[in-house]
Amino acid sequence: MNRFRFHNPTRLHFGEGTLDQLKEELPAYGKTVLLVYGGGSIKQNGLYDGIIRILSDLNITVHELSGVEPNPRVSTVRKGAELCKKENVDFILAAGGGSVIDCVKAIAAGARYDGDPWDFITHKAPVKEALPFGTVLTLAATGSEMNSGSVITNWETQEKVGWGSPLVFPQFSILDPAYTRSVPRNQTIYGMVDIMSHVFESYFNHTENRPVQDGFSETLLRTVIETAPKLLEDLNSFEHRETILYCGTMALNGMISMGIRGDWATHNIEHAVSAVYDIPHGGGLAILFPNWMEHVLDSGPERFKQMAVNVFGIDPAGKSAREVGLEGIQALRAFWTSIEAPSRLADYDIDDSQLETMVDKAMVYGPFGHFQKLDREDVLAIYRRSL
Ligand code: NZQ
Ligand code: ZN
Repeated sequence: MNRFRFHNPTRLHFGEGTLDQLKEELPAYGKTVLLVYGGGSIKQNGLYDGIIRILSDLNITVHELSGVEPNPRVSTVRKGAELCKKENVDFILAAGGGSVIDCVKAIAAGARYDGDPWDFITHKAPVKEALPFGTVLTLAATGSEMNSGSVITNWETQEKVGWGSPLVFPQFSILDPAYTRSVPRNQTIYGMVDIMSHVFESYFNHTENRPVQDGFSETLLRTVIETAPKLLEDLNSFEHRETILYCGTMALNGMISMGIRGDWATHNIEHAVSAVYDIPHGGGLAILFPNWMEHVLDSGPERFKQMAVNVFGIDPAGKSAREVGLEGIQALRAFWTSIEAPSRLADYDIDDSQLETMVDKAMVYGPFGHFQKLDREDVLAIYRRSL
């Protein structure tokens, strides 16, 4: 293992009825709250009414910012930061999926920054302060509810940038599986792909001696694989929603990645696709990850063999590590196809006309990837495989 320090300060409230915890959490932070949400799903599933009732019982003044886009825009971040300054907001409450939470992280830092939030999102200025915020998560996917990362899109320049700061961990996050029951089928699928992808990003590493991390990761992967078909059979199942929600948080809150250096190339490659075509993050990952795996297989066939055997139950007898690894990748493809995740860029009507543009955008942070360093040619090859 590498030397590490672990500190995750987010208080997690998990389970049915935990929305009530807002009553205990909020009074500590002041009297003026900005409630931030997306396109209206929280009004349809009753969450909005539940939150407003509690805020009103606590005599809290509420301002609202709605309409946060999937793949949230810096224009919305700017609006939110201005609102916080103008209304002297004490605390921000995010109610939604990863996009709403990521947007709130940037609003929180923007509210305490004298300038354009795009500066710190693009790493040109440090984050020195941020307003405190909490979240009520409605979609199992990103892990943003218990980490300090955020991904923001600038639609004018077609850039999608990941940034983070220890100052933007949520103070608390409330996860009631009941509020995830209304997530539509396609977003449920994208979410499960994203969760598995977060595990893959840390699982593909060259760090030595990490048996516990491997065990955590393989358990998460097997659990999503076992639960996905059952959940898709019954989207209303509390039990299966609960399982996936828990997996989502554990996949990207630091638990499985202590002491190891994950790869993270595929996320970068996906963000470049979303920046140009505005496709759902999980959909892009479903297309790109198996192609990344095939491209880098020879950098660590033993690792792919371990995944094939421990996650997909492939019999390694009489086969080389490479052959077993390849079978594992095929099993992943087959699984994602079985849950109707997209498998080709063509599924989003993406052809080869903008490949170079996407490579340029990905290479802003390149060469990148820790399992295998990718240069321009590698990224182009992975996009070509994915067409
Ligand atoms: O906008 P509303 O009306 O809320 O609808 C949303 C949105 O249309 C809907 N939805 C969410 N909860 C729902 C629901 N619909 C019905 N019932 C519910 N309970 O789902 C749609 C997608 O929501 P979004 O928040 O965009 O999805 P997700 O959670 O997958 O977030 C994706 C964003 O997170 C970034 C991605 O790049 C993307 O921008 N990521 C953030 C990470 C992080 N902060 O750690 C890591 C990830 O790898 C990822 O990059
Ligand atoms: Zn992701």
